[in-house]
Amino acid sequence: MQTTQPQLLVIFGASGDLTKRKLIPALFELFRRQLLPAPFAVLGVSRTALSDAAFREKTAEFLPADEPSVRSFLDMLFYQALSTEAPDEYPVLRERIAQLAARHGTGDNIIFYLSTPPKLYAVIPAHLASAGLNRSNGGFRRLIIEKPFGTDLQSARQLNRTLLNWFDEDQLYRIDHYLGKETVQNVLVTRFANGIFEPVWNHNFIHHVEITSAESLGVEERGGYYDSAGAMRDMVQNHLMQLVGLVAMEPPVVIEADAIRNESLKVFQSLRPLQPTDVPVSVIRGQYMASRIKGQQVCGYRQEAGVNPASRTETFFAMKFFIDNWRWSGVPFYIRTGKKLPTRVTEVVIHFRRTPHLLFAHSSQYQQPDNQLIIRIQPDEGILLKLGMKVPGAGFNVQPVNLNFHYADMSHERLPAAYERLLLDCMQGDATLYLRGDAVEKAWEFVQPVLDAWQDNPDIPVYGYPAGTWGPEVADRLVTDGHWRYPCKNLSDDGNYCEL
Ligand code: BG6
Repeated sequence: MQTTQPQLLVIFGASGDLTKRKLIPALFELFRRQLLPAPFAVLGVSRTALSDAAFREKTAEFLPADEPSVRSFLDMLFYQALSTEAPDEYPVLRERIAQLAARHGTGDNIIFYLSTPPKLYAVIPAHLASAGLNRSNGGFRRLIIEKPFGTDLQSARQLNRTLLNWFDEDQLYRIDHYLGKETVQNVLVTRFANGIFEPVWNHNFIHHVEITSAESLGVEERGGYYDSAGAMRDMVQNHLMQLVGLVAMEPPVVIEADAIRNESLKVFQSLRPLQPTDVPVSVIRGQYMASRIKGQQVCGYRQEAGVNPASRTETFFAMKFFIDNWRWSGVPFYIRTGKKLPTRVTEVVIHFRRTPHLLFAHSSQYQQPDNQLIIRIQPDEGILLKLGMKVPGAGFNVQPVNLNFHYADMSHERLPAAYERLLLDCMQGDATLYLRGDAVEKAWEFVQPVLDAWQDNPDIPVYGYPAGTWGPEVADRLVTDGHWRYPCKNLSDDGNYCEL
């Protein structure tokens, strides 16, 4: 196991939602598993004036009340009130950091985590630098930032340039929490730890690839943010493109940050650029409308708090595209994501080509199915392979059957939350599961023509779909020569009864 050096974690935006819901629980879990460095301390930074004790009390609300170890965990937390936009306050922060480091023996190693609104991504690093906090003497300084990394190609480039004024690329840790998911990492293991998949993982054997990330929730309390983002910026440019990178990449030479990140960059470099005329046919956008789900009336997107009542923001997105390289020549990739769909599910479906000759296709009752490999990211994490098997009895009728593996069956192992893995990796200086600036820009470059076409051509429709359905019907027509898989909550429940 890698060793983790003593260090201090400084969280900007310490009273924010992400800190409470994700970071603190992840840190606590690492603490319980004795994976945190020793010595270690967390300094929460936010505008509100709070004492260390008050910050600990507030934080305790997000931890299990009956856990005896909570108290010792809370003892590692400290708080500093700071107007993050005021450069003259940063010497105070520097002083506090020095005090904590001296008192707790955390050395000169510091991670700064920007759990703040994105507009501060350009501000805080500059002020850290002006206070000399971006460089260390023999220790390390790392900066974690959360998506969105820009809102389009131009702003993403600008953000990278700004960050690089103050920090080097190898100090920057850009989080895409999808890469922290066990099952997303398992895409690499499935492909490259098994001899049976790689020989068929190409255009000779794969007919098309489908990636779905569906959510049953709507925009909840985030209407204001979401209305300026939409599904494309919220899910596609980042999470779904990262999944595409892992599914489509060449085998990396070694499992190391640069080797893996180089391979996913190459995938992005090979994406066939979309022309303005492609957008109306290859991209479908939709928005959920009021409907009844399980007997309950639910509102439409435009009635959500914080959303413009005439909004044309997409809550559903589906796209067909190609990767123009040796491996994927001619293989369509389909991705889709949406809010207020029938269930929460993320999965990759590899559709293999049919046999060259349909030997058993004579029966109308049974059809020779295509083989599918389904990599279930969440929930009911696992893998499912769909095969055709003989129906017992007379003749040679073929019926699709499922071979499946569920992570839950590895009962001795719990799936760590994405943030646990990512925080620990950063503490250990491992950037493999973090995004490099060049890949972020490439992913933006690919989706930018869609944003441009939507802006330049308001006639491109935003299709309505009733909340609780699989999006606009027109999205079905994107998949030529096949159809989307309509997954259920449980990996292998399909075809018949399906619990949503
Ligand atoms: C976030 C998006 O990045 O990912 C949310 O901003 C979305 O809108 C979430 O709900 C989905 O993440 P997960 O881990 O629940 O699939």
